[in-house]
Amino acid sequence: MAESLQIQNGTKEEMYTSLLPQIKALIGDEKDHIAILATISAALKGCFGFFWVGFYMIKNNRLTLGPFQGPIACFHIEKGRGVCGKSWEMAETIVVEDVNKFPDHIACSSLSQSEIVVPIIKNGEVIGVLDVDSEHLNTFDSIDANYLNQLCQWLSVKL
Ligand code: SME
Repeated sequence: MAESLQIQNGTKEEMYTSLLPQIKALIGDEKDHIAILATISAALKGCFGFFWVGFYMIKNNRLTLGPFQGPIACFHIEKGRGVCGKSWEMAETIVVEDVNKFPDHIACSSLSQSEIVVPIIKNGEVIGVLDVDSEHLNTFDSIDANYLNQLCQWLSVKL
């Protein structure tokens, strides 16, 4: 079952409000983790045009690159390293207005300027992170954090 998303142009809040139910409906009762993560990456990239959208999942006690949309990225990130590893360690969402000012930011691309990382928490444990990068400064704020957290909470039940 493949169908296109109805992308509504409007405020960021309106776009998330329109997109999230469509993602949930599209994924439905699909069980395959790769299919689910790939679909979410494509939907977020398609709707917002973010530079990079993807998942790092914990395997053998480090983050390992999962489904993503955008330029190639590093395969593994250790706990506590970079924005992703820090989000894992703290089990918290991290919004980075300017990656050049974030100590230990891992630059998979020099074009990336701002970033948000949201942990996926299942049964109280971080099992992976959603990472979104922008080529512009200050792209992400509490609105992105709020909606992407809702999405990751819903996702954690599927994984
Ligand atoms: N910037 C991330 C690394 C992953 S890439 O952005 C895709 C970090 O600092 O953890």
